Amino acid sequence: MTKKIEAIFREERLNAVKEALAAIGIVGLNVFEVRGHGRQGGIVLSGRNGPYKVDLLPRIQLNIILSDHNVEPTIAAIRAAAQTGEIGDGLIFIYPVEEVIRIRTGERASAALHYEGDIDARAEAAEAAAEAAPA
Ligand SMILES: Nc1ncnc2c1ncn2[C@@H]1O[C@H](COP(=O)(O)OP(=O)(O)OP(=O)(O)O)[C@@H](O)[C@H]1O
Ligand SMILES: [Mg+2]
Repeated sequence: MTKKIEAIFREERLNAVKEALAAIGIVGLNVFEVRGHGRQGGIVLSGRNGPYKVDLLPRIQLNIILSDHNVEPTIAAIRAAAQTGEIGDGLIFIYPVEEVIRIRTGERASAALHYEGDIDARAEAAEAAAEAAPA
């Protein structure tokens, strides 16, 4: 099964999140600059003429389409890199993905989501190395 991770977090955590994902072998992703609010409905800032409300705050939205078994390690990596512990750290949503088609080749599903040196390629290489090693 294929899933979509949609993570919304602070702009200043983007580099840390990208590095954390690269470190575990997550290759394919895309990023949007979004504005939104959660439970607090924005923040109140103090201006020259008194306090004013900013109800839509800038955040990063990161989308990753990946195989089921890679979802939890990816969530852990994103949380570890994006969390400050303060209100407004963001949210992660997980969706089922119906189908993936690589336009160039017509490959579908997990075949369309293989990348050289990615999290799955690393796991396969580790497994092959373990088998080859004398008991
Ligand atoms: N239900 C939602 N649907 C879509 N996007 C959301 C939703 N809730 C929050 N967001 C997005 O996530 C961003 C961060 O939300 P935020 O971290 O403030 O969530 P929260 O639930 O209020 O948690 P916290 O209590 O930590 O502030 C928002 O600015 C908005 O872009
Ligand atoms: Mg909030």
